[in-house]
Amino acid sequence: MKHLLKMLDLSQQEILDILDLADKLKYQTKHGIPHPILQGKTLGMIFQKASTRTRVSFETGMYQLGGYPLFLSANDLQIGRGEPVEDTARVLSRYLDGIMIRTFAQEEVEKLAEYGSIPIINGLTDFCHPCQVLADLLTIREKKDTFDGLKMCYIGDGNNMANSLIVGGLKVGMEVSVACPENYRPDPAVMAFAEAREGFSITDKPLEAAANADVLITDVWSSMGMESEIEARKIAFQGYQINDDIMAAAHSDAMVMHCLPAHRGEEITAKVFEAHASEIFDEAENRLHAQKAVMVKLMGGDQA
Ligand code: CP
Ligand code: NVA
Repeated sequence: MKHLLKMLDLSQQEILDILDLADKLKYQTKHGIPHPILQGKTLGMIFQKASTRTRVSFETGMYQLGGYPLFLSANDLQIGRGEPVEDTARVLSRYLDGIMIRTFAQEEVEKLAEYGSIPIINGLTDFCHPCQVLADLLTIREKKDTFDGLKMCYIGDGNNMANSLIVGGLKVGMEVSVACPENYRPDPAVMAFAEAREGFSITDKPLEAAANADVLITDVWSSMGMESEIEARKIAFQGYQINDDIMAAAHSDAMVMHCLPAHRGEEITAKVFEAHASEIFDEAENRLHAQKAVMVKLMGGDQA
């Protein structure tokens, strides 16, 4: 594994190895056991979009690993004034040991990896959010002990989260059901991957998708960059909400996850959100542990 660009690139074994290492690093973090595996290493963090969790968990994670994180707002970089990503990649590769990037086009992240010579980590694009889904898988395994026999259900926009959850869920062996409006389906590449596998279903009926689910997940109706579509999406996504009816259709011990930020009253009710807050905030915490594992795997050399 040279980069983390998208879940489609990872094998099942690579995913499980990251989760196992994340468990170990989480234990060390919780017990105050130092683990300065990336001492002397630097991570550049390029942000073209807002972030709370991704920025703080990468920055803190790098610090806990003994390395140094640099926050690089795209507004202040020459890339924000049109310097090609091909050049940015080659320059930053001369200074840094790794780059985390949050941006719009997946192609930009892929190009950074192609032209640079250091590991690239995708911190969210319009296409996918692999760091979040690794944290989600870590949380599911923590709560349910296994992926075997579990059904994951995603309700909402066929966006970056849907794309990554479908691939990640299927790769670790879960059944995956998706409910989204006809015009807001996941990316065609993800649909092609999923439809060639056992255990995938997609519908426009949330209650149908939620039947006997063990894990229910949703995300915002309008992602970052879709601000001009907010009103139209509020209409298109009516009913695509995790609420009491959905919970009643799922298994009685079903867990609920949300990558955050959440819009109560839209994709999830305040009641369901608060009833499952412990799972949702464990999920948020697990961003830290999963990403530390990714950084160690990519930048830790022999220590990975
Ligand atoms: N879930 C997530 O990626 O959060 P941020 O946008 O706050 O980084
Ligand atoms: N789908 C959301 C996820 C935010 C973490 C977005 O892209 O804005």
